[in-house]
Amino acid sequence: MPLVAPHPGFPTARVLAHPVVADVLTRLREHHTPTAEFRRHMAVLAKALGLASTLDLEAATRPIRTPLEEMEAPALPQPAPAIVAVLRAGLALSDHLVDLMPDAVLGQVGLRRDPETLEAVSYLTALPNLAGRPVLVCDPMLATGGSLVRTLQEVVDHGAAAAAIRVLTVIAAPEGLARVAEAFPQVVVYTCAVDSRLDENAYIRPGLGDAGDRYFGTPH
Ligand code: PRP
Ligand code: URA
Repeated sequence: MPLVAPHPGFPTARVLAHPVVADVLTRLREHHTPTAEFRRHMAVLAKALGLASTLDLEAATRPIRTPLEEMEAPALPQPAPAIVAVLRAGLALSDHLVDLMPDAVLGQVGLRRDPETLEAVSYLTALPNLAGRPVLVCDPMLATGGSLVRTLQEVVDHGAAAAAIRVLTVIAAPEGLARVAEAFPQVVVYTCAVDSRLDENAYIRPGLGDAGDRYFGTPH
């Protein structure tokens, strides 16, 4: 079984096909999982998504000295990747990706869904120049896709090539995958699961509830 499988219905989606990932996601979804455990499970999934979504990065080397001799050692190419968190919940992934890519530059896009229109409303854009960098956009929930399409537009406006962008999400709804694929057909979305549908409040079903509230421990 490959680690990352294309989704039959969505050519731009890649689903992590690993029994350990699936088990951790089940624990994350469970209603009674306390905040501290929810954070730990998110950290595991963040690292799995981080590794899966960077398999295609070019190989480079840099000279180092081990305690015994000099060598030309494998390293990520320069410029280093950029990690962009969609606030708030994207921090649940990006916080853990920096362990994998310590030289990454970090950016944030602040969005919140308007409870009436369910569309994403922007409150912050803090992005470096992204030209020439692989860009990892992090948001654990892809529901209607409104937040992600807004974010991807900001990321492209800050110099990223669409083909260099990869999205990392824990659960995706079919509706969101379709919307993102239509707006940004070159952007690949890595996810741990594609769930069945959105409900009338645009929550993913079966989903995991409100990812931001569960990760930050805020009331829901
Ligand atoms: C959640 C989630 C995504 C967005 C997904 O954020 O983290 O950013 O909703 O929904 P969409 O695909 O329909 O746009 P939320 O608005 O709850 O804000 P938060 O991260 O600050 O909790
Ligand atoms: N945001 C969440 O946190 N959960 C959903 O199911 C949809 C949007």
